[in-house]
Amino acid sequence: MKRLVIHSSAGDYPLLCGRGLCGRRGWLARQLPADRSGVFLLSSPRVWRNCGKALGLALGPARPQRILFDDRETAKNLATVERLARALVRAGADRGAVVVAAGGGVVGDVAGFAAASYMRGVRLVHVPTTLVAQVDSSIGGKTGVNLKEGKNLVGAFYPPQLVVVDPNLLATLEDRQYRSGLYEVVKYAVIADPLLFDVLERTVGRLRSRDGSVLDWVVARCARIKGDIVGQDEREGGLRQVLNFGHTIGHALEAATGYRSLLHGEAVGWGMLAAVELARRLGRLRPSEADRVAALVVAVGRLPRLPERRIAIVRWLGADKKARAGRLRWVLPRRIGEVEITEDVPESLVREVFDVLPQLEPKPPKATSRSALRERR
Ligand SMILES: NC(=O)c1ccc[n+]([C@@H]2O[C@H](COP(=O)([O-])OP(=O)(O)OC[C@H]3O[C@@H](n4cnc5c(N)ncnc54)[C@H](O)[C@@H]3O)[C@@H](O)[C@H]2O)c1
Ligand SMILES: [Zn+2]
Repeated sequence: MKRLVIHSSAGDYPLLCGRGLCGRRGWLARQLPADRSGVFLLSSPRVWRNCGKALGLALGPARPQRILFDDRETAKNLATVERLARALVRAGADRGAVVVAAGGGVVGDVAGFAAASYMRGVRLVHVPTTLVAQVDSSIGGKTGVNLKEGKNLVGAFYPPQLVVVDPNLLATLEDRQYRSGLYEVVKYAVIADPLLFDVLERTVGRLRSRDGSVLDWVVARCARIKGDIVGQDEREGGLRQVLNFGHTIGHALEAATGYRSLLHGEAVGWGMLAAVELARRLGRLRPSEADRVAALVVAVGRLPRLPERRIAIVRWLGADKKARAGRLRWVLPRRIGEVEITEDVPESLVREVFDVLPQLEPKPPKATSRSALRERR
């Protein structure tokens, strides 16, 4: 088991990472604060179907009360938070309660916000069950819900007491969801970790098939990168913005397609291809490195086709721009493992890249390509 410590203004908290942690009888119950008055497991029906056996075993002696709620993105709203709060009252949760949020990013964000606001805050433990949640959303204390007007517009920074990451829980995740998380993994390598990038190039095939000997290392490595970044910049004053690599265009793509045709990670995949192309055309990234990043994005899996809605995408970028007093902020790679944040990208170039974006996805690697060669070694 790996133990990381995440710094936060509300106090440091541990992240425990190890395969099978949630299959050990009573293990999770023993990690919870001893002075608790009760334990409330907040999760979704689907997560419970897939992970309930393990969670029940690990949490059993704490006698958790289970509250399940819809974890579709469309249910990530204040109405669900209200329902959860009322369910907590009925279940007898008081200020000494511990909420265990077990699920993907939606469960973590909604249950996290419920924990942050219920009785002005009860203790929170995250047990992430998607790859996105294990390497990203459970770390850093952001919680919240959507409004009709936009995503994540109401929320709180509310660091948990503990995060438990068990890669075994990923076994039942749908392929597409899993791959969506892998794009975020590529993001970490590009923004902060050349060694991780090399490993991904060599092992992406094994990673795609969820080979534990690679996956466990990769998950812990990414959790550490995210933990280090949010530990230095909890509230996104500066450094944390590097996490938005691929997200400027990614968010616009998601919004322009009504959050339906692309999963978040897939939109980020396209966003990374676009950002790399911008950096290449600006002469800020060597063509050979740009090619390597693009090839790795594609090696994760074919991205769904881009919608033919260039105008809508540009409009959404414009909305983003308005939100930032007229300047769009870009995270562009300088080299693999290092990015810069810049507002200095001509709009004409952005349009140019948009025009070629559908053709930017390189062909999947042939057997003779660099990554395929490495893979065989
Ligand atoms: N708070 C943050 O810092 C942060 C960071 C990134 C993303 N997010 C948020 O996270 C959400 C996306 O999270 P996500 O990508 O984890 O997806 P998700 O929570 O929507 O889960 C995807 C699907 O997988 C199912 N699922 C979850 N675990 C499973 C398992 N082990 N086996 C089988 N099915 C399982 C879920 O029921 C759901 O249907 C978005 O709302 C996004 O805004 C938050
Ligand atoms: Zn993301």
